[in-house]
Amino acid sequence: MNIYINEAQLTSELEKLASFSETPAPSVTRIVFSAVDMAARGYIKQLCAAAALEIREDAVGNTFARWRGRQPELPAVGTGSHIDAIPHAGKFDGTVGVLGGLEAIRALQRAGAQPKRSVELLLFTSEEPTRFGIGCLGSRLLCGSLDASAGEYLKDRNGLTLDEVRRQAGYTAALETVAMKKGCYAAFVELHIEQGPLLEKEDLAVGVVTAIAAPSALRVLIEGEGGHAGAVLLPDRHDAFLAAAELALAVELAAKGSGSLDTVGTVGVCEVFPGAVNSIPSKTKLEIDIRDVDLRRRDAVLAQVLRASEEIGARRQVRFSIETINADPPAQCDEHIVEALCRSCDDIGLPHKRLVSRAYHDSLFMSQIAPVSMLFVRCRGGISHRPDEYSSAADIAAGVKVLAQALYRLAEN
Ligand code: HGY
Ligand code: MN
Ligand code: MN
Repeated sequence: MNIYINEAQLTSELEKLASFSETPAPSVTRIVFSAVDMAARGYIKQLCAAAALEIREDAVGNTFARWRGRQPELPAVGTGSHIDAIPHAGKFDGTVGVLGGLEAIRALQRAGAQPKRSVELLLFTSEEPTRFGIGCLGSRLLCGSLDASAGEYLKDRNGLTLDEVRRQAGYTAALETVAMKKGCYAAFVELHIEQGPLLEKEDLAVGVVTAIAAPSALRVLIEGEGGHAGAVLLPDRHDAFLAAAELALAVELAAKGSGSLDTVGTVGVCEVFPGAVNSIPSKTKLEIDIRDVDLRRRDAVLAQVLRASEEIGARRQVRFSIETINADPPAQCDEHIVEALCRSCDDIGLPHKRLVSRAYHDSLFMSQIAPVSMLFVRCRGGISHRPDEYSSAADIAAGVKVLAQALYRLAEN
């Protein structure tokens, strides 16, 4: 089958999608259910309608665009990703999987393919944790690993619940209706930029993902005593920021000491209260991200960080409250899907390698209800979550061509 990828059209669609942003180019900021997110969703739905796909949206805004197969009663083959973007991000994270998935379907349509199984493009709501504090919100609800009660207890910075925000955005059905049954998809394949340097180092355009690292996130509140920065002598202080700073260093120490380079720890959020130069911090809020491909190692680092907080709290006489936002298992990709992607690379003579994903993705949760794998596209310098994130049009088109080939192979299964 002669699969032709319209690189120019895909590039212009990625550029157009990037224009739906709260921050000026080259950065992209697109927080879930914001006005720019809703406009971007409208744009994607317009493109899907133009490709004659059947579109539906669930109660949290996960969007499904189905290309009906010859036997529509069979479980479909899914592909897709997310379009929300953290503040000051780039234009390729997630979007390559949504627009690339759409182009893969259009390329198969142009080639006259009529696969047995339907092929469905998914746009997952809120893959990024920015607004509600937890990543992969839409795919967690879809696979049932997050209970619908999250609609009431997840809140954004303004104190609005997920239910209030999603209803304002027009998604009013009960959240219980989002969960889909295991087996509803025969396979799920996500195209995504690598967000790491391995493919570039080996001069490869694409890589096939065999496993997805286990993410975890903690929210930490440290409460000490405030006071006047000039009047309170050092021995009398209970400085909530310095205690937080010690914990942040303990995160790094624990991750470095795990015995593996696969362990990473990051303190990405630090808020100091009252935030005045001449006032001793009375409260500090941290958000901590700890990951590893090995669950046991990841959990050992979490335990070490908790122990460190107890020691620091006792010594500095400050109070630590630690909430585990999420602590998910890693995902093993399905060998049959991995094989289908590797064979599709071979079909078009594209060198590739197997690798692990250190970033988490919606596929981590889709793996709980369907066999999954991912196809990574090389990104310059491994840079991501930054405005200078970049994947070349040629590499993206190569990835889309492999994806189209693999979707067809899996849909004919
Ligand atoms: O943080 C992640 O791994 C993903 O990019 N949200
Ligand atoms: Mn991301
Ligand atoms: Mn992503």
